[in-house]
Amino acid sequence: MKEILTVDVGHLMSEEDDANFISLSSFESLCKKYTSSFDQVIETLRNKTSPITRPFLVEPSLPTIKSIAEFLRRKYENVLILGIGGSTLGFRAMIQYLKGPFYNFGASPQGVPRVFVVDNVDPMITSPLGNLLDFRKTALVYISKSGSTPEPAANFLHFYKKYRDAGGAPGDIVIICDPADNGINRIAKGLGARLLHIPVDLPGRYSVLSSAGLLPAEIIGIESQDLLKGANRMHEAILQTSANQNPICILGTCLSELERKGKSIHVLFTYSNLLSDFGLWFAQLWAESLGKKHAISGRVIHAGTTPLPALGATDQHSLLQLFREGPNDKVFGFVTVKRFPSDVMLTDEFPSEVEYSYFAGHTLTDQLKMEQIATEMSLVRAKRACYQLILPHLSAFTLGGLFYFMETLVVFMATLWQVNPFDQPGVEEGKRITYSLMGRQDYAMMRTDDESELASFNRQRRLFQL
Ligand code: PA5
Repeated sequence: MKEILTVDVGHLMSEEDDANFISLSSFESLCKKYTSSFDQVIETLRNKTSPITRPFLVEPSLPTIKSIAEFLRRKYENVLILGIGGSTLGFRAMIQYLKGPFYNFGASPQGVPRVFVVDNVDPMITSPLGNLLDFRKTALVYISKSGSTPEPAANFLHFYKKYRDAGGAPGDIVIICDPADNGINRIAKGLGARLLHIPVDLPGRYSVLSSAGLLPAEIIGIESQDLLKGANRMHEAILQTSANQNPICILGTCLSELERKGKSIHVLFTYSNLLSDFGLWFAQLWAESLGKKHAISGRVIHAGTTPLPALGATDQHSLLQLFREGPNDKVFGFVTVKRFPSDVMLTDEFPSEVEYSYFAGHTLTDQLKMEQIATEMSLVRAKRACYQLILPHLSAFTLGGLFYFMETLVVFMATLWQVNPFDQPGVEEGKRITYSLMGRQDYAMMRTDDESELASFNRQRRLFQL
């Protein structure tokens, strides 16, 4: 079988009894302790009741996704994608991983549209972009599972007006949401827009392999079957590997035990600029799925560890000092790539200068690899627990597998910590206050209370001006 991911957990463990690692002598009994939780997760994958298996049901809608993408690809020079959080982070990770940071420079007019993703409320992005884009040549894709998230809704209002004023065809707009009786579905039908639905029980942060990620991917020429094949290959590999050899079970067990030992921060050090948005996708998946006040039983537990994405080698010159010498409250995951599709061979331009001559004959891939190893070794020497995920190469297949690996790991962690990985009650309160303070009609009954709380909140501020 084709290798899709290698997981190294050796430096989460120690032969000695060291409180900063999992002792090798206790590892076997720990694994046994968690096997039944792991089996529980495996069962939901096998019988496909877990929401993360929904993408495997997407296959029948692929022809529709492909034909919409093909139409937009042929007709438009730009595609503007509006969404936030889980609705856009997956696609951002995909485009960066598979097309690189300079994709737009090689895109249209050669044939595939340039891509612009707006996933924040920021006048300094929305306003200049609105002036920059020619809306006669720009396709509009609005992704919001609930259809009520205020940030993409505001952006949609603004860009829809620009699009309409430029004479854009409403029927070309793509709206991706869940199939509910709500405003976004009514607007889509009213406009005659192209409507794609995300499965109801698939939260945004797990939706990268649904139409939310696959439609934008197809527009820029990424084959969605390859992403799904990678996810499917990972799914099968996880099902077929016994718990004591299964990296999900082993890594999850170690991460859970290390949390009990006070490692409350989970750093994901991605070694390539092409993986930095993957780090952001991971951070959202981990934080929103595992950071929970209540256990499933209702008990207050305040579960979770804090994900912190870092970029190698760049952050060796920024965060590493703290990582190695600051509080020993972190566990470090490294994501590395064995082979990049292109490389740079360094030459001997200044042979008499020792600071420069040693580079001759090395590639940048060699250097990145050595820097990653040096960083990992220096952390382990300082008694910091580390693991590594090694990708054989960059492809839609390996990325699909990596998404699915992380989703399964998170679901397993949630089982160990006894929390629901598919809700996000902590995000809802802030959303509700925003609606009420911004005057949303169906939140009017809360407005008086929220406004008076806001007034007292503002009175409590202690402002010092310089
Ligand atoms: O994972 C989640 O559920 C969230 O991060 C959502 O993706 C995010 O809040 C955006 O929500 P929506 O897609 O409903 O606009």
